[in-house]
Amino acid sequence: MLYNSAQQKALFEQSKNLLQEGVSDNKTKAEQQLEQLCEAIIYHEWRYYVLDQPVLSDYEYDCLFQMLKDIESAYPDLISADSPTQRVSTDLTEDFPTVEHLTPTLSLENSYNQDDLADFDKRIRKLLNLGDGPELPYCVEPKFDGGTIVLLYENDKLVRGATRGNGVMGDEITANIKAINSIPLHAAFSKYGIAKVELRGEALIRKDLFEKVNSQRLKNGEQLFANPRNAATGGLRVKDPKQVKERALDAFVYQVGYAVDADGNSVLTKFETHNDLIRMLEVLGFKVPKLEEEMAVCPNIGKVADFCANWQDSRDSYSYEIDGMVVKLNNLALQDKLGYTSHHPRWAIAYKFAAKQATTKLLNVEYQVGRTGAVTPVAKLDPIELAGVTISSVSLHNADLIRDKDIRIGDTVLVERAGDVIPYIVKAMEELRDGNETPIVFPTHCPVCESELERPEGEAVWRCVSPACEAQILERLKHFVSKDAMDIDGFGSAYIDKFYQEGLLKNIADIYRLDFDKIEKFEGFGKRSVEKLKKAIEASKQNPIYRLIYALGIRYVGETNSKIFAAAVENVKDLKNWSLEQLMMLREIGPKVAQALFDTFALPDTLELILELEALGVNTNRLDSELPKAEGSGVLSGKTFLFTGTLTEMTRDEAEGMVEEHGGKILSGVSKNLNYLVAGEKAGSKLEKAQKLGIPVLTEAEFLEMLI
Ligand code: IVH
Repeated sequence: MLYNSAQQKALFEQSKNLLQEGVSDNKTKAEQQLEQLCEAIIYHEWRYYVLDQPVLSDYEYDCLFQMLKDIESAYPDLISADSPTQRVSTDLTEDFPTVEHLTPTLSLENSYNQDDLADFDKRIRKLLNLGDGPELPYCVEPKFDGGTIVLLYENDKLVRGATRGNGVMGDEITANIKAINSIPLHAAFSKYGIAKVELRGEALIRKDLFEKVNSQRLKNGEQLFANPRNAATGGLRVKDPKQVKERALDAFVYQVGYAVDADGNSVLTKFETHNDLIRMLEVLGFKVPKLEEEMAVCPNIGKVADFCANWQDSRDSYSYEIDGMVVKLNNLALQDKLGYTSHHPRWAIAYKFAAKQATTKLLNVEYQVGRTGAVTPVAKLDPIELAGVTISSVSLHNADLIRDKDIRIGDTVLVERAGDVIPYIVKAMEELRDGNETPIVFPTHCPVCESELERPEGEAVWRCVSPACEAQILERLKHFVSKDAMDIDGFGSAYIDKFYQEGLLKNIADIYRLDFDKIEKFEGFGKRSVEKLKKAIEASKQNPIYRLIYALGIRYVGETNSKIFAAAVENVKDLKNWSLEQLMMLREIGPKVAQALFDTFALPDTLELILELEALGVNTNRLDSELPKAEGSGVLSGKTFLFTGTLTEMTRDEAEGMVEEHGGKILSGVSKNLNYLVAGEKAGSKLEKAQKLGIPVLTEAEFLEMLI
């Protein structure tokens, strides 16, 4: 059935209400809830499977499903034949022939925490009549988040590949499966007495390759994939197997569903554990979860919980998307004893990680002015919990993004928090609008100082360009004292705001002129906190100069670039004398960074500030520790060089490249830190200075000899 937007909105709200209410104890109310749950679940399945556009997180959907199951098990007479619990979900399409799996591909029951896992273990022990007897070993492996595949091998050959479909029947996609390089076309199962075997696995795309595939699609003007899972599930159903390769599909195999010998007798009885089967697949060349790293055999459910918790913390650094772990009873004979329900095996359970996507309301938009004057719109959200963190505001970045995504105040928005990525709004749920949403109108004037905003050509951001803008001054001060910059311990935002309000802090140099006697008298400030602050400020005067360069808050000049600039000069002030070309010649410094640094040092205020800081005792001379460390064991390792005069054997670039290639470093001027000056023809003042300092001077030929 198709849903109009009013129906969708009603069903969405109905779902959220049900989630909040929980299952009622009252039969009449529960009966009413059951009807609502069926309606809601059918709607969400349509959004998920048909449109591929879920509006609920997996977690919320699972909760609804569980509520329905709970009511049905309390009142079995209420179960109707078309209840969502009475079928396994389907991904069958009409584009491919349908085939029947040798054994049904069922779902897994879900668990979300340690208690759920302990209940699972208890249930199994009870079914097996184990009482308080021996502990049960389990296998734990990642729950890969891609598209399920079912592979059939006969007489060592891959003869069929299919999707999961409705669990009983799947789409036959052999040609596409054969295009996945990690799936062997031939595997020596016969060595193990196996003539026919059905395997389950997951087709996936590695996260880094996904990025590449998407950037290629962007270049080709093709629609981007929303996430690796969509790219993988879609990739299984492409019409042309060549596209499978273009999407860089990969596949893990994690389950042997069926295995018989030439007489049709099961061979699974010859294996003791699930892990034994997986190791057999590994030997045969399949990509399987690696033992210890990706898969553990745990002696008891407590260790299972620990392994799951570790993976939950490190899931983002794993190369593939996973949405949880799968816990399987390791012993195959016991698995057999436990068997299956109509929906899932009794011997396995999924441990689902906290949701990464959820929907919530966009309440309002506020505008923040950064230290460079950039005005950033920030969406204020009805707080939601995502992957263990409560989120109440997310950046909307700029006006273009708001326009492109057509986000409005009052919208229900889909929020995602993936990996280390800062949470962001995936999209506004247009179908849930009721007409009360209002467009976001970007301000024309600075929300803090009210001066007119400007949008530099070619940029997406609107900026406040008033140098007197209080927001910018405060942000610059906060940046200056921050951890990665001058690292003034304890000098938080609240102090900056307070000292600014009190007129003690008008500019950066004032940080080193604070009147501590006055501060000591402020409410909440004692002698001790003032002493601590004083000490931290004092200590920052001895900082290496890369911190000062970074603290200036120059656009694009982060910590790494600051270190490169610091290594290239002897004193911060020297940067004033560098031309744009010279800056760009520094390794790893791009034109944008060079231009930003150049522009900043072209401003008289910059040098003035550095001189002022210097006079207040702040170190501006490069420390020895800031010279890049010699790497490895190159013949020039730890040695510093400078070239002067006209070189005849090689260009200056080539010569400097050779030094670095052999582990040496290039200095920008003659100083006592210089080990060798290589002098070409017509060398001038640098040669004189080096001779005066007694620094060895080499000819080009002598330099080249050092490399042999
Ligand atoms: S075992 C009979 N192991 O999770 C048990 N499933 O809801 C078969 N999945 O779509 C499943 N990683 O494709 C198993 N390591 C893993 C898995 C895994 C991902 C998928 C499976 C199915 C879903 C189960």
